[in-house]
Amino acid sequence: MGFWVIVLVILMSAVLGFLFFLFLSFVLVPIFWGAPFLPTDKERIERALRLVNLKPGQKIADLGAGDGRILIACAKKGAKAYGFEINPFLVWKAKSNLKREKVQNLAICQQKSFWNQDFSSFDVVFVYGISHIMKKLEKKLQKELKHGSKVVSFVFSFPNWQPQIKENGIYVYNK
Ligand SMILES: C[S@@+](CC[C@H](N)C(=O)[O-])C[C@H]1O[C@@H](n2cnc3c(N)ncnc32)[C@H](O)[C@@H]1O
Repeated sequence: MGFWVIVLVILMSAVLGFLFFLFLSFVLVPIFWGAPFLPTDKERIERALRLVNLKPGQKIADLGAGDGRILIACAKKGAKAYGFEINPFLVWKAKSNLKREKVQNLAICQQKSFWNQDFSSFDVVFVYGISHIMKKLEKKLQKELKHGSKVVSFVFSFPNWQPQIKENGIYVYNK
């Protein structure tokens, strides 16, 4: 009897621990440091790529790469795509999607907070953030991005930076 109670307690602790880790990865950490996972629909991604006139060889970053769909769309246009994602489950999913779509030669996804990445070498930066990070992110990108680079922000706009294009919840900024 005592043995099975211990086994049950261990099993329940493992399940609760796993559920807590899921909650941390999908809700608490992303909301605190960025945005929760909400994928951008493929039509909107294609529209954004047309708006920035993405060209082969350009270097792009997706800030919070989710399941890697923006990286895949960019790599399929010949761009070098770098994704930064804090959720380990989504990094795993993105990597397996890149492999399935056979774009690993052009696209990678790292488990890293975008706040710890320098964006000075990128031509186009994509972000689907949340209102409370936009002011700090605007400052970071204004400081780091090179002249001529572009930022695409889905849904949320920057508080001070004026977008060059504003179309169906897609904001395009020129540096
Ligand atoms: C709204 S989703 C966008 C996903 C993807 N870019 C798309 O458009 O389909 C935001 C993503 O950012 C990730 N995220 C949040 N804060 C982050 C941070 N500080 N660094 C890296 N990724 C972050 C979340 O885990 C989530 O997957």
